[in-house]
Amino acid sequence: MRHRLAAGNWKMHGLAADLAEIDALLAAHPAPACEVVVCPPATLLSRLAARLDRTPYMAGGQDCHAAPKGAHTGDIAAAMLADAGASFVILGPSERRADHGETSALVAAKARAARAAGLTPILCLGETEAERDAGRTLEVLSAQLAESLPDGSDAALVLAYEPVWAIGSGRTPTPAQIAEAHGHLRSQLARHLGAGPAQAVRLLYGGSVKPENAAAIFAVPEVDGALVGGASLKAAEFGAIIAALGAAA
Ligand code: 13P
Repeated sequence: MRHRLAAGNWKMHGLAADLAEIDALLAAHPAPACEVVVCPPATLLSRLAARLDRTPYMAGGQDCHAAPKGAHTGDIAAAMLADAGASFVILGPSERRADHGETSALVAAKARAARAAGLTPILCLGETEAERDAGRTLEVLSAQLAESLPDGSDAALVLAYEPVWAIGSGRTPTPAQIAEAHGHLRSQLARHLGAGPAQAVRLLYGGSVKPENAAAIFAVPEVDGALVGGASLKAAEFGAIIAALGAAA
């Protein structure tokens, strides 16, 4: 039985004052019926983690370096995220693949570093609109998964299927398209990890998840939760998504 997971990705949003949204979320949903992790910018991570202490909520980072430490100005090591209170780290989202030229091989190296620091990686993958239009979605997902999974991976990771064209666009795939992608990822996971461990990996959907579409997305087979961008910034919206996921569990 996989525990459902709602992950909020604040991306490059959030100043100290925005932690009031977390206070409102905790007040409205003190005991969610699913796991919840909030991934703020690194500048807020330790303050967020302090607020989440002794609550069921968890904190996560948005990226880490592949090396355990070193002369890498501006980068953050996985152990630093863990030290600041993170238990998860988002890796390989399309923005880092596009803006920073991150390859799947680098994502795998970062995932290895995250595991070494005791963090659970949330590995992101997804096709572009051109790849979907060319009928290449499943082939692209297979390749990204094969190259992004660190060697010796087991079930201690989360996968997030994020079609690039659905991120921040207000467009979402149909339930049938999500079911096809998640079913494909589950079967590919079984090839890489073996059937048992593959069943334990949570598969999140990400891309324009909102209170209005959350219940329909969570009803899709093989969807174990969501990676939420914009709607995770507001307590009312993220709270409604958390409630929808809890009701689907
Ligand atoms: P939006 O929910 O804003 O579309 O972002 C999705 C995403 O990229 C989460 O990582």
